[in-house]
Amino acid sequence: MEIKKIFVVGAGFMGSGIAQVAIQSGFDVTINDQREAALEGAKVNIEKRLTRLVTKGKITEEDKAIAMSHLSTSSSVHSATDADLVIEAIFENLDAKRAVFEQLDKICGRNTIFASNTSSISLTSLAAATSRADRVVGMHFFSPVPAMRLVEVVYGLRTSQETIDTIMSIGDKMNKKMILAKDKPGFIVNRMLLPMLNEAVQILDEDIGSVEDTDEGMKLGCNHPMGPLELADMVGLDILLEVMETFYTDLGDTKYRPAHLLRKMVAAGYLGQKSGAGFYIYDKDRKKVGVNPVLDKH
Ligand SMILES: NC(=O)c1ccc[n+]([C@@H]2O[C@H](COP(=O)([O-])OP(=O)(O)OC[C@H]3O[C@@H](n4cnc5c(N)ncnc54)[C@H](O)[C@@H]3O)[C@@H](O)[C@H]2O)c1
Repeated sequence: MEIKKIFVVGAGFMGSGIAQVAIQSGFDVTINDQREAALEGAKVNIEKRLTRLVTKGKITEEDKAIAMSHLSTSSSVHSATDADLVIEAIFENLDAKRAVFEQLDKICGRNTIFASNTSSISLTSLAAATSRADRVVGMHFFSPVPAMRLVEVVYGLRTSQETIDTIMSIGDKMNKKMILAKDKPGFIVNRMLLPMLNEAVQILDEDIGSVEDTDEGMKLGCNHPMGPLELADMVGLDILLEVMETFYTDLGDTKYRPAHLLRKMVAAGYLGQKSGAGFYIYDKDRKKVGVNPVLDKH
């Protein structure tokens, strides 16, 4: 099936990145959000990022203009009527995502594929909210979307091979490397990564090492580009906690139990970069300025 028109639901951090990559790859994209401010913000941010690419000599002014001509915004889901592909990137909540799919199921054509950028929700249960379970698939982009090559393609129990093949070819057009994962908690990457970040918090909780030494350990000892605690701050400590809770409930093994210190940090409002403080303190440009002194008290 040929995909020309993409409807991206959710103009937040991920949705705007997905829209940018799609318009740069020649797809016509309508980005949708309930909030007008989010739509305006997404458009401004995409334009700014493309301008930066022009300044760096990576694309031309003409490339930028062509890409921007493929972008439109709409606060109405009814603009999805002629979409070939929907990519949902609203916040991580099963009921909210099911409601979006249920509504779009009535609006979109029978052949429209529904993809979700979910990091942790079962594609099989999202598909059950629609009458097109064979055309529901996970398209899990990584952040920041324009810079990260990987997309996990997640297939539910009823996802058809044709849907998987179509999504794989879209990934190729977007110059992404696609990997295939079954619909099991965390898929491939987060199933490995998030327990490691949680374990780094556990190391702090047990006073085995300091914040900086824990991060240096993985950077210099394992060649990771970022330490696990700074990465946890970037992901968001609330998101890390939520996913670990899901792993713990769904997989039932104590190795997935969220670190006690992680619960305390979230309860205290230290959510990482987005709140200005997590394991580190950040300035207004999200630049790290030092270790969070509150950790001396735990
Ligand atoms: N942030 C990451 O690093 C990351 C990485 C991979 C996957 N994801 C997944 O991507 C999704 C989006 O994450 P994000 O960080 O971009 O979130 P975000 O909070 O930046 O953006 C979510 C946007 O969705 C909008 N929205 C909420 N409900 C809506 C609805 N019913 N209809 C239309 N718009 C609606 C909100 O107004 C907001 O603008 C989540 O499922 C998340 O798990 C996030």
